[in-house]
Amino acid sequence: MLSFLFLLLKIQVPDLPVVALHGKDVTLKCSFSHTSPFNLSDVTVFWQLTDTKRSVHGFSMGQDQLTEQAESYANRTSLFLSQLTMGNASLLLQRVAVADEGSYTCFVRVQGHDSAALLLQVAAPYTKPEVTLEPESNLRPGDEVALTCVAYGGYPKADVIWQDGSGRNLTDNITTSVVANEQGLFTMTSVLTVVLEPNSSFNCRLINPLLSEERSIFVTVTGQNIAFPPVALWVTVGLAVCLLGLLIALAAVCRRKIKESCEEARREGRRKKKKQVQG
Ligand SMILES: *[C@@H]1O[C@H](CO)[C@@H](O)[C@H](O)[C@H]1NC(C)=O
Ligand SMILES: *[C@@H]1O[C@H](CO)[C@@H](O)[C@H](O)[C@H]1NC(C)=O
Ligand SMILES: *[C@@H]1O[C@H](CO)[C@@H](O)[C@H](O)[C@H]1NC(C)=O
Ligand SMILES: *[C@@H]1O[C@H](CO)[C@@H](O)[C@H](O)[C@H]1NC(C)=O
Ligand SMILES: *[C@@H]1O[C@H](CO)[C@@H](O)[C@H](O)[C@H]1NC(C)=O
Ligand SMILES: *[C@@H]1O[C@H](CO)[C@@H](O)[C@H](O)[C@H]1NC(C)=O
Repeated sequence: MLSFLFLLLKIQVPDLPVVALHGKDVTLKCSFSHTSPFNLSDVTVFWQLTDTKRSVHGFSMGQDQLTEQAESYANRTSLFLSQLTMGNASLLLQRVAVADEGSYTCFVRVQGHDSAALLLQVAAPYTKPEVTLEPESNLRPGDEVALTCVAYGGYPKADVIWQDGSGRNLTDNITTSVVANEQGLFTMTSVLTVVLEPNSSFNCRLINPLLSEERSIFVTVTGQNIAFPPVALWVTVGLAVCLLGLLIALAAVCRRKIKESCEEARREGRRKKKKQVQG
């Protein structure tokens, strides 16, 4: 008879992981079937972390039992009491944090008892990525540049894909790193090193696998960046002016020299004529 009573209660939780947005509230669903009506004072509900068995929320004898509650859940949990006697033992968890991620077990006892676990996953969208160029200017085709793509405040790790202007995946010389802030949210930094061609385009794409959300930025390294380096330009102009001046000076000198030598020749000629006359 007793073992039959244990079978009177059957718990149901979602099979698929529950995805919650960082900072938002989430309902961890748990419902139980029951055959006979009961009072609120007859039901015991425990929510706990499956791995560590730490208490997330407790309810028995008609009221919340929170003395055992793990401190990180304080003031963030509640049951839907009005629906408890209808077989609803769902837990409202407020202001979800990355640290909340994990497996939760829902335990209910009325006449019989049962428990089941569900998985909570936390997600946060990344900011739109920004790309910086190193070096920034004086670029010419053939130069090696580093493009750094950064996006903030996301979770979990995103897949980072670099593509060129025609959509081809770039796979070489990409270094992607992840740093977590104190809230557990990630900053993703991906550095692409390439040799510039005229009109190089690059697309940095971040895909958050949990949210199936993509953030991307398209950059074109154009004539704005690829330019005649101004310093070299002025040096070139300066040199050209010097050279021109030098040529003019040279020409002037030459002309005088030629003139002088001509006069010399004429004088020489006159002298010779005189000699002939004398002789
Ligand atoms: C239980 O109650 C909550 C709050 O009203 C609701 O969101 C949820 O869908 C209900 N049912 C189950 C099975 O959790
Ligand atoms: C619920 O409690 C009331 C008073 O405490 C009692 O009269 C009633 O029989 C109880 N119902 C069940 C289903 O236990
Ligand atoms: C929870 O709320 C109570 C009452 O408002 C407060 O005294 C306590 O410091 C809070 N605990 C946490 C961990 O926020
Ligand atoms: C680029 O790589 C991503 C991820 O590895 C893949 O999903 C996509 O199909 C690739 N695209 C091309 C054009 O190769
Ligand atoms: C990767 O970068 C290094 C130096 O930064 C360069 O020598 C090498 O050729 C690059 N490899 C590819 C495949 O572009
Ligand atoms: C570079 O792109 C600009 C604008 O898209 C275009 O006008 C120009 O012809 C391109 N130059 C080369 C060398 O492809």
